[in-house]
Amino acid sequence: MSEDLVHDVLILGAGLAGLRAAVEIARKTNGKADIGIVSKVQLMRAHSVCAEGGTGAVLRTDEGDSLELHAWDTVKGSDFLADQDVVFRFVETSPKEILQLDHWGIPWTRDEHGRIEQRPFGGHSYPRATLAADKTGFFEMQTLYDTLLRYPCFKRYDELFITDILVVDGQFAGMAGIHAPSGEPVTLRGKALVIASGGAGTLFGFTTYSQSVTGDGLAMAYRAGLPLEDMEFIQFHPTGLVPSGILMTEGCRGEGGYLRNAAGERFMERYAAAKMELAPRDVVSRAEMTEILEGRGFEGPDGLDYLHLDLTHLGAEKINKRLPLIREVAMKFVGIDPIEKPVPIRPVAHYSMGGIETDINGATRVPGIWVAGEAACVSLHGANRLGSNSTAECLVWGGITGGEVADSLSRLPAPPPLAEDRIQSCRQRIEELMSRDGDENLYALRRELRATMDSSFGVFRTGEGLAIARDKIREIRVRALRAPVNDKSRVYNSNLFHALELENLIDLAEASVAGALARQESRGAHSRRDYTTRDDDHWLKHTLSWCTEAEPRLEYKSVAINAWKPVERKY
Ligand code: FUM
Repeated sequence: MSEDLVHDVLILGAGLAGLRAAVEIARKTNGKADIGIVSKVQLMRAHSVCAEGGTGAVLRTDEGDSLELHAWDTVKGSDFLADQDVVFRFVETSPKEILQLDHWGIPWTRDEHGRIEQRPFGGHSYPRATLAADKTGFFEMQTLYDTLLRYPCFKRYDELFITDILVVDGQFAGMAGIHAPSGEPVTLRGKALVIASGGAGTLFGFTTYSQSVTGDGLAMAYRAGLPLEDMEFIQFHPTGLVPSGILMTEGCRGEGGYLRNAAGERFMERYAAAKMELAPRDVVSRAEMTEILEGRGFEGPDGLDYLHLDLTHLGAEKINKRLPLIREVAMKFVGIDPIEKPVPIRPVAHYSMGGIETDINGATRVPGIWVAGEAACVSLHGANRLGSNSTAECLVWGGITGGEVADSLSRLPAPPPLAEDRIQSCRQRIEELMSRDGDENLYALRRELRATMDSSFGVFRTGEGLAIARDKIREIRVRALRAPVNDKSRVYNSNLFHALELENLIDLAEASVAGALARQESRGAHSRRDYTTRDDDHWLKHTLSWCTEAEPRLEYKSVAINAWKPVERKY
């Protein structure tokens, strides 16, 4: 691999948002733009392939659904922290993405009339999760990649671990990284960058995320001077399989599955009598934790007490047709056939509502850098995302950012050569890591960090617990300086990559906990035992975290409210 690679556009991340952006740039420039797609994993291993239940979009306006209803559900679901202009753009664009994928050949599940099927999902007033069985993300990824292959204008850089996003004189300049198979340092330059590298879900031990999802793009952007927004809002999905954390899709409940406690009760009756199991995720996860903490759960391994997801009444035909992956996973990972027996579940870390601050077009404050998908905080989800709005967001803002980049290429300056001292300082950081000495173990530190986040930054939080987490993260940061990279080889040095990932996770943990400690209210997924109500007078605002030497510096910005004023949120 050569050392200095130059393209018009660089895309960091090859999941749904990254591929959708690439297709749009290729399409809009008639295959003229030269695109480099960079991923630390191989292309079809991006975490997007794990998306299961569906993609939210309004397709049935003839039967009672409407864009306004989808917008209202999203705003209410967000506990009124979503920017409403962003929400409207989203609901208008998402149906077009569904049809576009259909034209590109995705095998959407269809009803007996041949129409694209949609299933109910939590917090939505109408069934609008568009599905390809329970493997929606996989088929979306495959369709996008197949479509991209029609354009000969992109080059893939798989297994290229990016360590730095480089901004020169306030403008995007390039990235530095390591080519995993050779261990060689690499620089990439481009006029534009789309960051589409996903969230930071392995901040937690019990998580639905692939182990590769370590928030690298967020952390690098943060260090490069971009603010992170609303990082205190982490989504806990109500049905993580115990003990692995693998996602049991919300589609299980969308198809009619029940949640039961150890006494066999459908406990959601007590918490959201109207919506029951299909209340939004923050509501259901709090209900589950309350059941568990009040002793109505089952005792589980390693403190993972659990409840039951009961599909037995759905019947074999429905489960085999609509939830084949769920059946396979339950049988393989816990030896339970959900046709016959309930499955053990509990709330599991699933999604970062926060991310790199962008405007409604996915543009950041640094000219030349756009962000799409989970890495972005375009302010669509506010304090709590509705299920199925994530893959939809990836498609919508993959398309929007791709279009914006394509339109901007002619006016963006050619990337300047990178100054030698800048390149050397990136390489120096790696050399310092490689020669680090000391008595700490980076894997033990990673476990400690995750245990801290699991215990203090979960479904329920307190100021005291968050302060303990803040101090512990600081301690881990210092101890990490004494955690050597024991593998001194260069080829596929995953030990080195894990050390770099740990640094990224520490930065993100610190920013997230700082935002949560400051936010003295409960809103959406941020539920504080010491401030139990929403406080619109003081906290109807977005948090921005800026990276500084000492600790994150917090600022706030207002929420775009142009359709609905906040009201009490009931389900
Ligand atoms: O439950 C699920 O299938 C997850 C969907 C989502 O997070 O949007």
